[in-house]
Amino acid sequence: MRLKEKVAIVTGGASGIGKGVAELFIEEGAKVVVADYDAETGQETADQLNENGEAIFVQVDVSDTEAAEAMVEKTVEEFGKVDILINNAGVTADGFLSKMSEDAWDKVIDVNLKGVFNCSKFAAQKMMESDGGVILNASSVVGLYGNVGQTNYAASKFGVIGLTKTWAKELAGKGVRVNCIAPGFTNTEMLDAVPDKILDKMKNKTPVGRLGEIEDIANAYLFLASDDASFINGAILPVDGGLVL
Ligand code: CAA
Ligand code: NAI
Repeated sequence: MRLKEKVAIVTGGASGIGKGVAELFIEEGAKVVVADYDAETGQETADQLNENGEAIFVQVDVSDTEAAEAMVEKTVEEFGKVDILINNAGVTADGFLSKMSEDAWDKVIDVNLKGVFNCSKFAAQKMMESDGGVILNASSVVGLYGNVGQTNYAASKFGVIGLTKTWAKELAGKGVRVNCIAPGFTNTEMLDAVPDKILDKMKNKTPVGRLGEIEDIANAYLFLASDDASFINGAILPVDGGLVL
C-alpha cells in the first residue's frame, strides 16, 4: 500500500499505459481520477477500478486550458486534494518533415506539451496549497534521441524534459517533486500505426530483446510517485530495456 490515502490524477488514464498506472495505483491504495478525452472508455475504466477501490472519470481534453482547470477542481471537489499528477495523455501524428501538415504539428504539440503545462499549472497550485505532491511527465526514447518521421512528437517529448527540469527547480522548495519517464516502444494501441518493419528494428536494437509492456512502465511510475523516491527530483528515467544505450 505505497500510495495509501493519496489522490492521483492520471491523464490519458482510460487506456494503454495510463490505464495500467491507474490499476496499479488503485492496488496501492490511491484514489484515482481517470482524466481522459474518451468518455466511453474512460467511464468503463473508472467503473472497473471502482471494483477494487475509489475512482472517478472526468472527461478532459488536456490541451484545453479551461477544461484542464475544471478537471483539477473536480478532483479537489470529489477527493479534497491532489497528491500526484501523472501527465500521461499523448498522441502521435507521424510523417516525414516534407509531408507534415500544420494540423499534425499543432495537434501533437497541443496535447503532448501544452497539455502537460495546462494540467501541471492547476494541479501544482493545489499541491503547493496543501502538503505538496508529485508530478510525473511522459517523455519517450524519442524525447532523448529523436526518430525518423516524428518531428512533432520528438519536439513535444524533448519539450516535456525541459518542463520537468524547470519545475524540479521551481517547485521543489514548495514540496512538489517533478520527474519524467522516457518509455521505449511499449505494447499499446499507439504502436498500431507503426509499420512492423520498424517495430522489429526497435526490438532487435533493444538489449533486453523485447518491446515494453504496460506493467514495465506502470511500475516505474509507481516507484517515482511513492515516498521511496523522495530524494529523486528532476530525473529522466528511461524505461526501455536499454534501447537508448
Ligand atoms: N528508421 C529507418 N527507416 C525508416 C523509418 C525509421 N524509423 N521510418 C521510415 N523509414 C523508411 C521506411 O522503411 C521506408 O524505406 P523503404 O522505402 O526502403 O521501404 C521509407 O522510410 C519510407 O517509409 P514509408 O513508406 O513508411 O513512408 P510514408 O510516408 O508512408 O510513412 C512514416 C512515413 C509515417 C514516417 C512511416 O514510415 C512511419 O510510421 N514510421 C514509423 C515512425 C515511428 O517510429 N513512430 C513511432 C510511433 S510510437 C511512439 O511514438 C511511441 C514512442 O514514444 C516510442
Ligand atoms: P494510447 O494511445 O494507448 O493511450 C493514450 C490515452 O490518452 C488514450 O486513453 C486517449 O484517449 C488519451 N488521450 C489522447 N489525447 C488526449 C487528450 N487530448 N486529452 C486527454 N486524454 C487524451 O497511448 P500509450 O501508448 O498508452 O501512451 C501513453 C503516453 O506514453 C503518451 O504520452 C505516449 O506519448 C507515451 N509513450 C508511449 C510509448 C509507447 O510505445 N506506447 C513510448 C513512449 C512514450
